[in-house]
Amino acid sequence: MKTIDKKSFNHEDFYLKLDTDVIGRNFVEVDEIDSTNAFLLKTNDYNQNGTVILADYQTAGRGRREREWISAKELNLTFSVLLNNNLDKVNVNLLILGSALAVAQALENLYQLNVELKWPNDVLVKRKKICGILLESSAKGSKLDKLVIGFGINVNQVNFPGKYNITPTSVKSEFKSTVERERLLAEILNNLEAIFIELVKTPEKVLDAWRDRCKMLGEKIKIEDDGKARFGIFDNIDQNGFILLKTPEGREKVHIGDVSIR
Ligand code: BTN
Repeated sequence: MKTIDKKSFNHEDFYLKLDTDVIGRNFVEVDEIDSTNAFLLKTNDYNQNGTVILADYQTAGRGRREREWISAKELNLTFSVLLNNNLDKVNVNLLILGSALAVAQALENLYQLNVELKWPNDVLVKRKKICGILLESSAKGSKLDKLVIGFGINVNQVNFPGKYNITPTSVKSEFKSTVERERLLAEILNNLEAIFIELVKTPEKVLDAWRDRCKMLGEKIKIEDDGKARFGIFDNIDQNGFILLKTPEGREKVHIGDVSIR
């Protein structure tokens, strides 16, 4: 289907809005690739910290828990950010929460959307998924070598054929107008850099901003992992980004799983 929203990405418009020192300063766009995450993890051609690779189309986009990430060509934003500097100091869980926050703030500031964050890595609007994030890493020996944060954002796509774990939506569906992908990507990267700096200085501020947007806090939830389900009240997230679940037996710390309202 030919749609007028399909437009190649304009680098000049993007750079005009980009206001970072590191993230996105090396920017690579490819027409088609298996997965931007897989590519950055395996390549030795791009080593600059903060490199961003954007794909117009992914043939094997991947999501959490070995799900696939399907995204229409040239309508959306599917990109990955490479981090390879000072990784021993990084808390990976907080990076995921901070990355989701960067997207939420961009959608709020540019399009006044009422955004909800779902632990650990989903961005929702009206309970529908507008963005998913997948953080992957590689190691050399026992040392973390690369972190790759992949973002799949539904921007100008409005039809989502197929079956989804969470019903999808897009910026265009919610904002009721076609949006400029260049401006949105620059805004997300600007926020991301600011949040990464804040995570080093005052991580509690980032956590509080994340908590403010998590509508499941205080609710009865189910956390499923590997076919096992835990039930309880979503009491809080701790300073490491783990869920504190209140159960009749006491407070449990949960590191992994799919959360849903009970
Ligand atoms: C999820 O919600 O399960 C995470 C989806 C992450 C998708 C993005 S698209 C860009 C990057 N490359 C991938 O193969 N996956 C991530």
